[in-house]
Order: sequence, then C-alpha cells, then structure tokens
Amino acid sequence: MENLISLVNKIQRACTALGDHGEESALPTLWDSLPAIAVVGGQSSGKSSVLESIVGKDFLPRGAGIVTRRPLVLQLHRIDEGREYAEFMHLPRKKFTDFAAVRQEISDETDRETGRTKQISTVPIHLSIYSPNVVNLTLIDLPGLTKVAVEGQPESIVMDIENMIRSYIEKPNCIILAISPANQDLATSDAIKISREVDPKGERTFGVLTKIDLMDKGTDAVDILEGRSYKLQFPWIGVVNRSQADINKSVDMIAARRREREYFQSSPEYRHLAQRMGSEHLGKMLSKHLEQVIKSRIPGLQSLINKTIAELESELSRLGKPVATDAGGKLYMIMEICRSFDQIFKERLDGIRSGGEKIY
Ligand code: GDP
Ligand code: NA
Ligand code: MG
Repeated sequence: MENLISLVNKIQRACTALGDHGEESALPTLWDSLPAIAVVGGQSSGKSSVLESIVGKDFLPRGAGIVTRRPLVLQLHRIDEGREYAEFMHLPRKKFTDFAAVRQEISDETDRETGRTKQISTVPIHLSIYSPNVVNLTLIDLPGLTKVAVEGQPESIVMDIENMIRSYIEKPNCIILAISPANQDLATSDAIKISREVDPKGERTFGVLTKIDLMDKGTDAVDILEGRSYKLQFPWIGVVNRSQADINKSVDMIAARRREREYFQSSPEYRHLAQRMGSEHLGKMLSKHLEQVIKSRIPGLQSLINKTIAELESELSRLGKPVATDAGGKLYMIMEICRSFDQIFKERLDGIRSGGEKIY
C-alpha cells in the first residue's frame, strides 16, 4: 500500500497541474491544507546545504546573492531499487539522471519566470526526486531573508521575500524548518525571528543549527541544542554541512555525511547528543513527523477531498462529455486521483479505528 506522504504528494501535483482552472474549485483550499515543510532562514545560513544533505545529492544552484528567487517544491520519493532520477513538473516527459543538469534547469526556469532581473517570483518550481536513498518527504525551499537590496534589485525585495515566506509559514499545516547558523548570535537569527511571529509556542518549528564547525574556539552550541537558549517543542538538531572549500573540491555527499557523523561522535561537547544530530537523522525525523501530521489531518483532508470531487463532477458535467478539452482532461484526471485518495483514506481510517494497521 502506498504511504501517506506519497499520496499527499500526488494530490499536491494534481492541484498544481490544474493551474488557473483550479481557482473556481476547492482545490486551492485543498492545496493550502496539505501539510508540507518549508525551509526558512537568512541568506547563507545554510538552507541549500541542509536540503542537499537531506537528499544526499548536489543539485541546487548556489552562489553569492539571492540565488533562490522562486519557491522550489521538492518532493522526495523513495523507490525500492533502480537508478535515481529527477523530474520537473514543467518538463513532464524528461527524466534527469544528471544532477548538474537539474541545477541548471532550476536556474534557467527561475530566469524564465523572473527574466534575468534578479527579481523574485512567488510562482513555485516543482521538482521530484526518485531515489532508493531518500526518505519520503516534501520540502519547500524559499528565498533567503535579507536585510538590503543589492544593485539591480528593487528596494521592495526585502519585504517581498519576507511576505512570500510568511504566506507559506503562516498556514497552520506548515511545518517550519528554521535554519540558524551557529557562528552568529541566535538572538539575531532571521529564521527564529520570522517563525516566532507565526508559531510563538514553537509547536510546528524545527530548529536546525548549521555551521557548528565554524564556531569560535572555546564556545559551543550545547545550550542551544539542549533547548535552553530558545525553547521549541521539538529538539534542536545540529548539522555540519560541507564548507565552501569542500564544495570547491567537490567533496561528495557520502563522505560529507560520514565526516559529519564523526564530528559529533568525536567531540566531547556533543558526544552525548550525537544520536540526534546530523542531516541523516534530520531527514528521517522530518519524514516520520510529516507522516504523523498527515495522519492526524486525515478526517479534515477527507472531507475537503469529497467536496473537491463533488465540485469537479459538476464542473465536468458543465463541460459536457466526452471531455475533449485539455482542461476537461485535467479535471478528469484530478477527480480520479481524488477518488483513489478518498478510497485509500477510507481504508486507512478503518485501519486506524480497528487498530489493525500500522501506519509506520
Ligand atoms: P543558503 O544561502 O542559506 O542556501 O546557504 P548555503 O547552503 O548556500 O551555504 C552558504 C555557505 O555556507 C556555503 O559556502 C556553504 O558551503 C557554507 N556552509 C553551510 N553550512 C555549513 C556548515 O555547516 N559548515 C561549514 N563549514 N560551512 C557551511
Ligand atoms: Na545563498
Ligand atoms: Mg540557497
């Protein structure tokens, strides 16, 4: 049986595929209600590095300035075997096995929407990665918070980025991955500042501390990692990503992960925390948490889906049958996905009620 995260992924893709047509139906509401994880933080805090470590692949554009200028909805799909590949929603028939080409396409597709103006756009890019080495997860990469516009950028960009991030993280179903660098004072963390606004009790915020290896000698992050500096409901997770020098030397992700593990196990300050530190642990924990959140939302999602099916049915009958138009075809496809979704939800709910089926 399919797992809940991949089911929600399907609905997410279906909602997006419908495009403008969806505005008349319940689909936008449905999309807003689907749990997802948004990555937030200041520029250069290590967001892209954390995402790449979770995926175990080099595939994100990087560089100085605002590199991420459109939201990237990244769906990770675990497959049992076979070669890993990536697919963009805007290029449905193309399978990417070369992840350098994925990076190039993200960058090209960003420019297609924004021109080369270095403006930002709220229109997301959808990327799916299929691999035996990933956990099922949906992550949304967002532009980094910044304090000042640079040359060629409008002054409004600072607020535009803040507002875009807020529009994602203010949704109660959004899980916030708040990235703060350990070599800066936590009190100045952009990630904590914005997540506190929308989630003051830290009930849906995961604190990730990057650059622990870059802290001043004689200082350590134990107070933060043990939750004494800023309390969140979930434990803080420390990571050590590749440095710029590592990236320049093309240190591969497997080696980087091993080094990260060794870093925590071998340092006297962190040894007692080693089991819950690192990118690998972060990925697993997020996947488990996302599944749990989806599970708890099943009844609400189910009634929304039923509402969507009813609306799609009436929309289809208004268009008349046989459905020949492109929009009609899409509506039909989405209705079918919603129906199977509904079916599986029902089975799951029965399983949960009877206590018969294990969710994970
Ligand atoms: P983003 O702008 O938030 O996406 O940040 P990036 O992931 O692009 O990271 C910015 C820079 O910091 C890059 O040069 C990374 O190599 C470096 N970096 C990120 N995390 C770490 C870390 O944990 N340790 C070290 N030494 N460097 C890091
Ligand atoms: Na950057
Ligand atoms: Mg980045």
